[in-house]
Amino acid sequence: MRSPPVLAQVPLFTGLAEAELEALASSLRRRSYAKGEVIFHQEDPGSACYIVETGRVKIVAASADGKQVVLALLGPGDLFGEMALLDGEPRSADAVVVEACQLLTLQRDDFLAFLRSNCDASLKLMAALARRLRRTDEFLQDAVFLDVSGRLAKALLDLGEGQGQKMPDGSLVTPRLTQGELAALVGATRESINKWLGYYRDRGLVRYEGGRVTIRKPQELRRYIY
Ligand code: CMP
Repeated sequence: MRSPPVLAQVPLFTGLAEAELEALASSLRRRSYAKGEVIFHQEDPGSACYIVETGRVKIVAASADGKQVVLALLGPGDLFGEMALLDGEPRSADAVVVEACQLLTLQRDDFLAFLRSNCDASLKLMAALARRLRRTDEFLQDAVFLDVSGRLAKALLDLGEGQGQKMPDGSLVTPRLTQGELAALVGATRESINKWLGYYRDRGLVRYEGGRVTIRKPQELRRYIY
């Protein structure tokens, strides 16, 4: 495969020379996935990592009684499935398609050979894992210190600022998410998300239409994070 343009967006591969990108691209395979398809399950053995070329993927952990928490929402340029390749343990979470996507896969041996021959990329990977641990620490603190209204306000602002769109009037629009997905992202029930979305809507802070939340007054919504 010729080097796909999305590789330039993968932080791990920035700074690679054209020849190195071409060499890496020759090990990649492309596959399309439909919405709702499970890419792998928690506890599966891991033999490859994935780069999102188009579409969106969620990383989900589930309890024995079927409750879910969304650990991450990923889009173009994001790499996932690397943890099982690094520590040889099974998959730490499910990966599920949110919006039909095209993924590039890199087999374990090729991924590890790439890291061994590229010290800078290994350092970038460590930085990415450190960032993830920081986010996980923050998530844990929020779960203990914030109530659902604060966690929802924070999640909406993070989604709007991260993967969403900033509109000319200063409002933020999140990617499309069901209330169930929002609940799993915030660590709350769908009913309480519905209640607090209604609370924020009644105060003119948000609008929920077509699965997207428009944050009309980001500064005011931020005040609810305490
Ligand atoms: P792996 O354990 O192989 O399979 C599940 C993948 O989800 C994991 O690798 C990571 O790539 C990704 N993942 C797990 N936990 C998180 C998290 N907290 N934030 C972002 N991605 C994660």
